[in-house]
Amino acid sequence: MKRYFVANWKMYVGSPKEAAAILKATTGAMRGKKDVETVICPPALFLTELKKGYRGPVVFGVQDVFAESKGPWTGGQSAGMASLIGAEYAIVGHSERRALGDTDVVVEKKLKHVLAEGMRAILCIGERERDRGGDYFGFIEQELTSALRTVSKKDIKKLIIAYEPIFAIGKSADEALTPAGVEEMVIFIRKTLAGLFGHEHVKGVPILYGGAVEPANAGSLAGAHGLAGFLVGHASVRPNDITEIIRAL
Ligand code: PGA
Repeated sequence: MKRYFVANWKMYVGSPKEAAAILKATTGAMRGKKDVETVICPPALFLTELKKGYRGPVVFGVQDVFAESKGPWTGGQSAGMASLIGAEYAIVGHSERRALGDTDVVVEKKLKHVLAEGMRAILCIGERERDRGGDYFGFIEQELTSALRTVSKKDIKKLIIAYEPIFAIGKSADEALTPAGVEEMVIFIRKTLAGLFGHEHVKGVPILYGGAVEPANAGSLAGAHGLAGFLVGHASVRPNDITEIIRAL
């Protein structure tokens, strides 16, 4: 199974110079780990500068897109535009975008738009909190079903699912899910996908975990059965953490 390290830089990186230094550290961290697909999603404004002359193994993505291709959308950036400047991946439905107003309908549209542009989509799903009754399973199922409503079987190979429980995002390793907890969700997500598209079509869909992945828990989480890698936020801009997390994969 191919492994993924997806770096979601959010707005942690404030200048092209800082961005270049983290790219360099990430490239260095990949020495001897060429089998890991490493995707950096920087602030889109820095992408062109970062890619200029870059010959290393890192590939690039964007943290969000607007759902339309062109038109009167102040501040919008389409998947096509992102692709033109070298983004191969796009994160869709991150909880921080959902909190700013991306409804399930918007997420569905964005996902469709990204896939139509031929990019790979990293669809984020995750519950806000855990209730004792286990309602969060229903919530995850609904988030998946809604986002994937119009995705064709042909496009599934461009899909990556990132399971990110919101209560763990931005926290420290001790608040992340345990490897057993991650395994349980990977099984549930794969089962839900199989129910939607059929097992044969979804068995290759990578499922990542995100939410407080740090050097302290990367090793144990990487062993979670069926998990293909990580979507990493705050630790993805810290050179030492990057190295340790990529080594763990
Ligand atoms: P975190 O963020 O690693 O800082 O918890 C993960 C994410 O939001 O993608």
